[in-house]
Amino acid sequence: MAIVSSHNSDPSAKPPRSPQPAALSADAASLVQQGSAQPPETALVEDHLRPQRLQDYIGQSALKQVLDIAIQAAKSRQEPLDHLLLYGPPGLGKTTMALILAQEMGVACKITTAPALERPRDIVGLLVNLKPGDVLFIDEIHRLPRVTEEILYPAMEDSRLDITIGKGQAARTRSLPLAAFTLVGATTRVGALSSPLRDRFGLVQRLRFYDTDELTQIVLRTAEVLKTPLHLAGAEEIARRARGTPRIANRLLRRVRDYMEVKAPGLITAAVAAQALELFNVDPRGLDWTDRRLLSVIIENFDGGPIGLETMAAATGEDSQTIEEVYEPYLMQIGYLQRTPRGRVVTAAARRHLGYGD
Ligand SMILES: Nc1ncnc2c1ncn2[C@@H]1O[C@H](COP(=O)(O)OP(=O)(O)O)[C@@H](O)[C@H]1O
Ligand SMILES: [Mg+2]
Repeated sequence: MAIVSSHNSDPSAKPPRSPQPAALSADAASLVQQGSAQPPETALVEDHLRPQRLQDYIGQSALKQVLDIAIQAAKSRQEPLDHLLLYGPPGLGKTTMALILAQEMGVACKITTAPALERPRDIVGLLVNLKPGDVLFIDEIHRLPRVTEEILYPAMEDSRLDITIGKGQAARTRSLPLAAFTLVGATTRVGALSSPLRDRFGLVQRLRFYDTDELTQIVLRTAEVLKTPLHLAGAEEIARRARGTPRIANRLLRRVRDYMEVKAPGLITAAVAAQALELFNVDPRGLDWTDRRLLSVIIENFDGGPIGLETMAAATGEDSQTIEEVYEPYLMQIGYLQRTPRGRVVTAAARRHLGYGD
């Protein structure tokens, strides 16, 4: 069953939708299914912290400008927003942005993830239930199964659903009109998308790591939501160690808040934040135990590299995809790791940081 959660722009108003629009043919109706799943607890915590409007979304100014123009233009033409692909490392605000777009357009946002769209009926069920202009958000879109992708092509281009019913000689194709909608796809691996799929997005936008000032604002805002007393210097200390990533900044803030409540009740100061993060093994550059281990294994066992991704995975016991999508981007961003044609190389800056000298 597809994992779907629905966010309506006006939480007080819209009643839940009827699962089967009246005009649907019996064939398609039999394919319709309503997915539902409880989001995990962390998702609920995050939902609570997400900014709701474009103006409250901190940083990513280039992205915001592009989307602001797209929103205004679509609204004035009374058309749905163009299909949008957001890519970048985890925790930078892709899901948040999809929800904001729906909010700004005044439409509902259906959320699902590519691995949940295994069978044709999963995606068909979602598509036929969209209302004009709605946002369909597909997370991890690089993992879409082939069949699902092919159903999406005509849906994205012509708001049309082509479904094949039966097999072999008895197979026939039905074409059904769909409401014009906006697909927002998110991925950490834009290179893994097929080019026909990528080409069907009118807007392809990358999210960047946040700088310390932006993360400081995010931490201050989250502290307000959580009603946690936080000193500016404390927010900066957390921001500096958040690996350029809002999700990590918010997570560190929660850990520091716990520490403050138990060890130093009152206010999160820079010293309290630093002590807490030291305790949780987050160093002053935001590297955690795994980051440091990845680097030190390359230094100690492979003379600093070059070393291939698979070797790195085998030597550290980490999953190669996790290394590539979660750990490497930030290590490269801060100049601790380089990708060369012959493999990964640890830089002198990383050696100094880890105390290896040169
Ligand atoms: N620009 C931003 N301003 C404020 N908070 C943000 C921003 N981007 C992300 N966040 C917060 O970080 C967390 C993770 O964001 P999310 O959109 O789920 O990331 P992604 O989908 O890219 O993995 C959420 O709690 C969200 O509120
Ligand atoms: Mg997400």
